[in-house]
Amino acid sequence: MSTKSPPDSLLPDIVEPIVVFGGPYGNLQALQELKRICHELNIPPRRIFCTGDLAAYCAQPLESIAFVRSWGIHVIAGNVELQLAADQADCGCNFNEGSVCDALSNKWYGFIRQEITQDQIQWFHTLPQHIRFVVAGYRCVIIHGAYTGTAKFIYHSTPWQEKQFELDAADADVILTGHCGIPFLHSQGNHIWANAGVIGMPPNDGTTLAWYLLLTPQDNELLFETRAFAYDHNTAAQRIESCNVVPEYAEALRYGIWPGNDMLPKLEKAQQGRPLIPEKLSVERLK
Ligand SMILES: [Fe+2]
Repeated sequence: MSTKSPPDSLLPDIVEPIVVFGGPYGNLQALQELKRICHELNIPPRRIFCTGDLAAYCAQPLESIAFVRSWGIHVIAGNVELQLAADQADCGCNFNEGSVCDALSNKWYGFIRQEITQDQIQWFHTLPQHIRFVVAGYRCVIIHGAYTGTAKFIYHSTPWQEKQFELDAADADVILTGHCGIPFLHSQGNHIWANAGVIGMPPNDGTTLAWYLLLTPQDNELLFETRAFAYDHNTAAQRIESCNVVPEYAEALRYGIWPGNDMLPKLEKAQQGRPLIPEKLSVERLK
């Protein structure tokens, strides 16, 4: 995977709530609904962060990229943006050859590669891979999969030592991430790994919901919340069926089960089809 991208973005300290979300995956309907929710929460674009993979399994990659650009939020490059920008032949996830994920990713990635415009590719080249800021005294870094590898999959069941290794490598107290498709919060003391989940595909939990992360600095604490939302998933599914690239993902939007789960660890495989519950985590302010 290409690592040629702009240096980390460094933002001023943040004192108000922020929204982090992952993987729009070409699901324009989910993006539209999340924008409405952010407006309702009174969170402006400068406090909204997308962890990348704007285009993937769903049918409206170009419209979704254009939507995010015109929204004016912060965006980092995911593996999809990096691979397209580097004119690579696959999505960079290194799925096992012959697996369902491998076969399907060849189809959707090929479709996007044909559709994408040069202007959008040029914009991908401008996206940082990490964004840094401080909130409530915590040094936060927004990343895609892992700090030491954009396409590395880190799940709730991934041992804490691996997460701590990434936090140390990133020189961070908090990592805010996406990529693996399933939201979760995991902490050890004042170190936190917060996966926002993705909005373009349900988290393999048998529901049609999309997920994001709300981070709220309060008087004495910093609050992390994973939140779910419903959107017009039927239209998103119909769009996939009408372009007929990977119809399996229309089923995933309608029934909440991924067509392939061969990359999942044992624990996350066992949770397939069980509705996720929103999580909350509160830590004391460091300043
Ligand atoms: Fe990804």
